[in-house]
Amino acid sequence: MKPQIKPKKDISYGSGFPHVRLRRLRKNQAIRDLFQETRIFPSDFIYPIFVEDQIREPKKIGTMEEIKRLPLSRIINEIESLLQTGLKSIILFGVSSQKDEYASSAYSQKGIVQKAIKEIRSNFGEKIVIITDVCMCQYTTHGHCGIVKNKIIDNDLSNHVLSKIAESHALAGADIVAPSAMMDGQISFIRDWLDIKGYSDTLILSYSAKFASPLYNPFRDFADSTPKFGDRKTYQMPFTNINEAIREIDSDISEGADMIMIKPAIPYLDLINQVRDFIRLPICAYSVSGEYALIKAASEQGWINETEVMVEFLTSIKRAGADMIITYYAKKIASLLKNELFYKEN
Ligand code: PBG
Ligand code: ZN
Repeated sequence: MKPQIKPKKDISYGSGFPHVRLRRLRKNQAIRDLFQETRIFPSDFIYPIFVEDQIREPKKIGTMEEIKRLPLSRIINEIESLLQTGLKSIILFGVSSQKDEYASSAYSQKGIVQKAIKEIRSNFGEKIVIITDVCMCQYTTHGHCGIVKNKIIDNDLSNHVLSKIAESHALAGADIVAPSAMMDGQISFIRDWLDIKGYSDTLILSYSAKFASPLYNPFRDFADSTPKFGDRKTYQMPFTNINEAIREIDSDISEGADMIMIKPAIPYLDLINQVRDFIRLPICAYSVSGEYALIKAASEQGWINETEVMVEFLTSIKRAGADMIITYYAKKIASLLKNELFYKEN
């Protein structure tokens, strides 16, 4: 058939088969490498670190054995080994034995996270980006992310406490605070408070679209933060609602977030991709404990190859539009990329 004259916008696509053969682009690994559209780097990834008070040795927890809760004394070693893989960012979580109704150990300068921040900062200076999770669930007796009054999570009271937690992290030396309680207005409360207290340089990564997901279960066992009554559905997002998620993101941007987070990652690639087109600030995706667990468990059964699935999942999150990814696989993927094992394996 005679090739048709196409409108200008289509010219680059040629006239179809047989002139166009897409398999040419896949001829061998070197050609495929040249045409690779999405690339991942160690610096795309953020590693979650859990520091626990009152332990002396790293503690394995069933659901995420390879991650381990660390005592303060092991933090420096851990960061050293991370830096060697090319990772440059961590997100710190505290696991606290001192729980009360008001999460007071969450904002004490003697708290485990505050101590860890100071220790890391004094040893590594600006070589590492320290992000801190700002929430209450590991520090409250009831295990909810906010302050509870008559079995109800009090939004504005919680915002005051979250602001104090963020301030205590900034004072200790955190670069980025990441509020994860899903209270309305938490970003503007925290931004105001940090500015008043002299921390206008501290960035805010907002857990903007955090869905109420059963994929957090391994984390809750791991961090001892399961709610003692009810669930998190009055503050975390329903997984059915994408417009509402975009409103959450819009609102956090207007309140002063420097970057936004979407969490979990794999089931919400549609959302990542939709907002990518219209927001002009960085998108962080959190590939959560349950996503990690799915790969781990299936690979332990011998049903899938852990490394290959990990690479596919993490690359897909970036392809969808995420600029950075929090993952329990950060160490593994970074060392793989550093040694270029991923390319050799193919
Ligand atoms: C605490 C918090 C949770 C996660 C991160 N911060 C758990 C929750 O909201 O119940 C989940 C992370 C994961 O599953 O890896 N607010
Ligand atoms: Zn929480």
